[in-house]
Amino acid sequence: PMAELDTREKRLLPFAVFNQLRNTTPVRYDESRDSWDVFRYEDVHRILKDPANFSSQRSLVGKESGSILTMDPPRHSQLRSLVNKAFTPRVIANLEEHITAIANDLLDAVADSGKMDMVHDLATPLPVIVIAELLGVPPEDRELFKDWSDILVKGPDKNTDEAFHQVMAEKGQAIRELNGYFAKIVEQRRKEPREDLISLLLAAEIEGQKLDDSEILAFSILLLAAGNETTTNLITNSVRLLTEQQDIQSQLRANPALTASFIEESLRFYPPIQAIGRVATADVEIGGKRIKAGHQVVSWVASANRDETKFVDPEQFILDRKPNAHLSFGFGIHFCLGAPLARLEGQIAIRTLMDRMKQIEFVSGTELSYIQSPFVYGVKQFPVTFK
Ligand code: HEM
Repeated sequence: PMAELDTREKRLLPFAVFNQLRNTTPVRYDESRDSWDVFRYEDVHRILKDPANFSSQRSLVGKESGSILTMDPPRHSQLRSLVNKAFTPRVIANLEEHITAIANDLLDAVADSGKMDMVHDLATPLPVIVIAELLGVPPEDRELFKDWSDILVKGPDKNTDEAFHQVMAEKGQAIRELNGYFAKIVEQRRKEPREDLISLLLAAEIEGQKLDDSEILAFSILLLAAGNETTTNLITNSVRLLTEQQDIQSQLRANPALTASFIEESLRFYPPIQAIGRVATADVEIGGKRIKAGHQVVSWVASANRDETKFVDPEQFILDRKPNAHLSFGFGIHFCLGAPLARLEGQIAIRTLMDRMKQIEFVSGTELSYIQSPFVYGVKQFPVTFK
């Protein structure tokens, strides 16, 4: 986290800080983190669409995880076109009925009590169940999944070497456990293929060559790490918004067709991932500053999404904002593979909540705590009441 986001209040609502930094130091070098920060929409956009100068080969989850997220072309393009087939909007749209059934089951468990914790009761289990089913792992293992994926996205809780090493050690351990876990499943599917993603990856070939096991393991782990907490935060952040702006609840109930644009605006306004990292491969100029080859560059999506040169009234939540070219799923060749799925899950969660729960309100007086991670934007619990 940046030095400027030094209080709980600022971590819970960092946007004023970003606005200030965008206007005072739109591109700056932060010595304490040995990293560049980029805050303007135009500059973030430029970096994300230029993988030749801004490489994704950074170590994200401890040691190099070897997934598409941290690859550059040409290997990235080959693997990406392969897994794209499993995540087309059409494939994902087929899941609508099933995901709605899962959401209803989860809400059945709390409906009579008039209260729930949005994170624990809906936003966490929904994406975990869906991704576990897609990957073809036993649903009863989902608690394990949740623990692992939490560790993978965690950042140090203090800005000390000790805290950093502690987190890295935990991540290393989680990756070893995950590798062991998925290695068994890969073995089983190799013997007896099913209709799941791991079987699909095992059968796939790129120019006559099969993927190796480490690539299949890395991809499975990436889906867990990239798909769970992000979607959890999309759902919780959206509900947070609905409690802050109650009139939107009635608008969505009166006009459910607005749910899709509500989710887009919520992604812009409270982005689950607030920053995206790259490494400069050559000396490049951004916003008048010279970035040297080898330096880290952090693109602050949470700032770009509120850039007044790109969005009309960026501080207003506009339910039917059009156009809405937010960067919350990234941009360019690494644009989020899971975006169609995340959007669908978000829309279903909100529609199901609006159908079944009236007057959703935050339990006032609860002290919110933010998720301890420099790049994630979300809260650890979000208690609400409803009628
Ligand atoms: C990539 C955000 C949900 C899988 C990305 C990137 C962002 C992002 C910003 C680009 C990273 C970069 O350029 O370095 C989000 C958000 C989500 C979400 C905000 C939820 C609201 C999901 C889900 C899945 C998923 C549900 C899978 C089931 C991936 C994968 C990549 C990716 C595999 C890497 C793509 C590549 O490198 O080509 N996501 N994501 N994401 N996301 Fe998501």
